[in-house]
This record gives sequence, structure tokens and C-alpha cells, in this order.
Amino acid sequence: MEILFVASEVAPFSKTGGLGDVAGALPRALAARGHAVSVVTPRYGAIDPARHGLKPLHRAIRVRGEATTLWVKPGRAPIYFVEHERLFGGRAGLYGERGADYPDNAERFAYLARAALAIPAALRLRPRIVHVNDWQTGLLPYLLRHEHGHDPALAHARTVFTIHNLAYQGVFPKAAVPVLGLPWDVFRYEAMEFWDRLSFMKAALTFADALTTVSPTYAREILGPEFGAGLDAVLRHRTKDLTGILNGIDTAEWDPTTDRYLPAHFSAEALAGKAACKAALQRELGLPVRADVTLLALVSRLADQKGVDLVAAAFPALLEHDVQVALLGSGDRRYEEAFARAARERPDRIAARIGFDEGLAHRIEAGADVFLMPSRFEPCGLNQMYSLRYGTVPVVRAVGGLEDTVQDYDGWNAGTGFKFEEYSPQALVLAVRRALDVCRDRRAWAGLVRRGMAEDNSWERSAGRYEALYRTLGA
Ligand code: ADP
Ligand code: GLC
Repeated sequence: MEILFVASEVAPFSKTGGLGDVAGALPRALAARGHAVSVVTPRYGAIDPARHGLKPLHRAIRVRGEATTLWVKPGRAPIYFVEHERLFGGRAGLYGERGADYPDNAERFAYLARAALAIPAALRLRPRIVHVNDWQTGLLPYLLRHEHGHDPALAHARTVFTIHNLAYQGVFPKAAVPVLGLPWDVFRYEAMEFWDRLSFMKAALTFADALTTVSPTYAREILGPEFGAGLDAVLRHRTKDLTGILNGIDTAEWDPTTDRYLPAHFSAEALAGKAACKAALQRELGLPVRADVTLLALVSRLADQKGVDLVAAAFPALLEHDVQVALLGSGDRRYEEAFARAARERPDRIAARIGFDEGLAHRIEAGADVFLMPSRFEPCGLNQMYSLRYGTVPVVRAVGGLEDTVQDYDGWNAGTGFKFEEYSPQALVLAVRRALDVCRDRRAWAGLVRRGMAEDNSWERSAGRYEALYRTLGA
């Protein structure tokens, strides 16, 4: 099958969260199954062509009459980087800087969609599936139908839209409609209008041929008002076109036996390296180096979604136990300050690193005993799967992909982590206490760790599910 995959971030070139990880790994997993996959993404300012081995393509593409160029990262699933100095290249951030979105994001991502659609004709691709992701690519299904109706390169293309997070919707003032070159006809309730504004997310939910999201539970949750972010009615209308397909993890990038960021390696059969990683992490973070203390950790975007307010509120109760806490995250100023303050007050117990640090994220996954993900909602979540693979027991709220990927410890010999339901600091603390109780029983804990490490969350199975979906669309 020929597939064109479009995403606003692709790891390791650009990443603010899990979307980047997925866009980096899923196309390769599909290519490994024999499909011809091309990926399209912007060449942001932070992506240095020389450092990443990108090659310029000499064939230009035209977007609304204006010519632009592409870079390519050759490979099994080649990645095409759209060059545009004003919209992408000349900026430090992906979507904004210092907590503020770029004011022209509508224009930037409409441009990405149109550039992606110009590529097949220019490069002689004939995709049967155009798979797009999150609001940044939301206009593409509509533009494919209305601006490429007579383009032979796209004549047989059907669109798949994956919701990685329904909470980020790309909603802009209606003045954007003519600026983006859209007809006013799209500005109605049944199309792209959302409370008198233009919604890229709604555009995708309306015009894509098939809709997916990144876990079966989230696929059900978003049909109701609690998780539907104002779009549940629109989604209910398309229930039969919506599937939940769990994300996988990149098992080459996240492998405790080879991980290049770790000071020592380990596996379920040889766990000594994990103890070495824990000691090294305690040293790196300036915490007392002790094997017998339970090290709790969190690596996260610091946003309301992630339940970090519960963690901040739970510190006093958690610190009544013999635990240390390692925090890595960036985002919302309130949470950054709350974590930094907690670490200043209890430097012997809490370490906080504010920022985005790929290497430290790996070392925390490897060195911690328990990983906290008390999310308010979680479309899929990748960190709990990295944790399982690294022998770090996840404590999660039973929502979305967390519900689907973690099995609650049953007090005997089943389960891979600890789950709680109620969104409260007390419920989080109770779940951590259950974990600490089991942690004291070395055999029970070792069983829990080994069962988690034995879970297979590789992309193989999920790529097969996408493939089956593409086939239902006639590809
Ligand atoms: P989301 O996409 O909602 O942020 P996921 O769990 O799907 O959540 O993916 C988050 C990804 O981003 C993981 O790979 C995680 O390790 C990474 N990540 C999040 N915050 C940081 C950080 N401060 N430093 C390094 N990596 C981070
Ligand atoms: C989003 C979600 C996260 C998911 C990721 C990749 O950012 O918040 O749960 O794992 O996308 O699909």
C-alpha cells in the first residue's frame, strides 16, 4: 500500500510529546510490513539539515502559487521536510514560545496541509491512504476533496485522521476563513464552525473518511461530555467510523539492554543494572544514594491533563513514607513553580528538573521504582509503557490508554501496576501506599516487575491494526 503520513512533529527531529514519538515510529513499522510510506512534516528552525543528514530535493512544490522546497531524510519510510523560512524555519518553537502560541498557527498549519497535498504530484507518489494527525493537519481531508478533486496523484486517496488529543483543537477567529483561502460555505455547524470560530479539529472530524484515536477506552470516553471537549456530539455522529488503536512504543529507542542514555544496562533476567541506574540517578539528581528507599518518579508535560496538581497536593502525605521523588517536566508555570518549590523545601527527598531532557527521561525511567501517571484524561500515554519495559511499576489513574495498558495488581500473582479511579490526591496516595506495601515484599515486587517487563507493547501489533483499517477503505 502507498501511504502518505502527515504530522506536525516527528521524533527525533522534532518533539513536544507523544505525537512525535508515534510519528517517528509508526511509519517505520508500516514500512517494515512492506508498505511504501512517506512522511511529511515541517522543517522547524531547530532541525539542522546537516546534523540530521537531510538532503535538499531539487524539485520545487507550489502552494497557492508560491514555490517552496523540500528536504528529505532518506530511509525505509522517507521523511519530507517542508521548507518555509517565515512560517517554520525562522522560529525556535514548534507551536509557540514561552508559553504563548504563535498568532499565525492557522496559516502555518494550513500551509503544511497544502504542501503535503502538493507532494504526490511533484514526486510521483500515488498514495491510497493519506493519514493525518491532530488538529495541525485537520484541514487536509477537506482540502484533498476540494482542491485536489482532479489531481490524478490523489484520485484514489482516502483520508484517516488520528486524534492524539481531543483537548487541543486548533480553534481560530472566523476572520481566518478567507485568509486561509477557504470558502464561507465551510463555516457552518455541520462543517468547521465551532461556537462562531473556525475549528481545525472539527474540520477533520467532519471530512476525514475514517477516524481513529490512540486507545480503545479513549475512543469510548470521547463520545460523552466528560471527555468529549465539546465535540462529543460530532463524534457520536461518526461512531461507526471511529476506532481506538493503541499506540506502541519504539522498542529500539526504549530498550534497557542497549539504551545509550543509561549508565548501566539490564533485563528481566539480569536486574543488577537497574540498581546501578537507580544509584546513578540519585547521584545525578543530588538525592541521597540509597538502595532501600523507594524512588517515585514523574516525567511529563506539566499541563492540567496530566494530573500534576494531584502530585503537588500529595507531597506531604507521600513524604510520610520512606520515599524519594524525581520530577522532570515543563509547561504550565504554576506547576513548574510548585515542583521547584517542593524540591527547594525538601532537597533531601524531592528533586525537580524543569525543562525537556530526553536523556534524563530515559535515566528516570530506568532508575525509578515507581512511575506516577495520575492523568485527568490520557488518550494513550507512552510513559507507562516505557516504565513497564524498564521494570518501573506504574501507578496510574484508570482512564484512556492507562486503563488499557496497565493491569491492576490483584494482591497475588497477576497485574503490572496500580490503578485508581477517583481524581483526588487521596486516591493517588492510597494507590502509592498499595505499591509501597507490595514493595516491602521482595518476591511479590520482583514478580510485578517481571510481568511488566514481559509485556509486549511494540508497534508490530498496532501497525497491523492500522493496516486492516486502511484495507477497509479500499487501499
Ligand atoms: P503526551 O503526548 O500527552 O505528552 P505521552 O505519554 O504520549 O504524553 O508522551 C510523552 C512523551 O514526551 C514521552 O516520550 C516522554 O518521555 C516525553 N516527555 C514529556 N516531558 C518530557 C520532558 N520534560 N523531558 C523529556 N521528555 C519528556
Ligand atoms: C497525545 C496524548 C497522549 C498520547 C500521545 C500520542 O499527546 O496526550 O496520551 O500517548 O498523544 O498518541
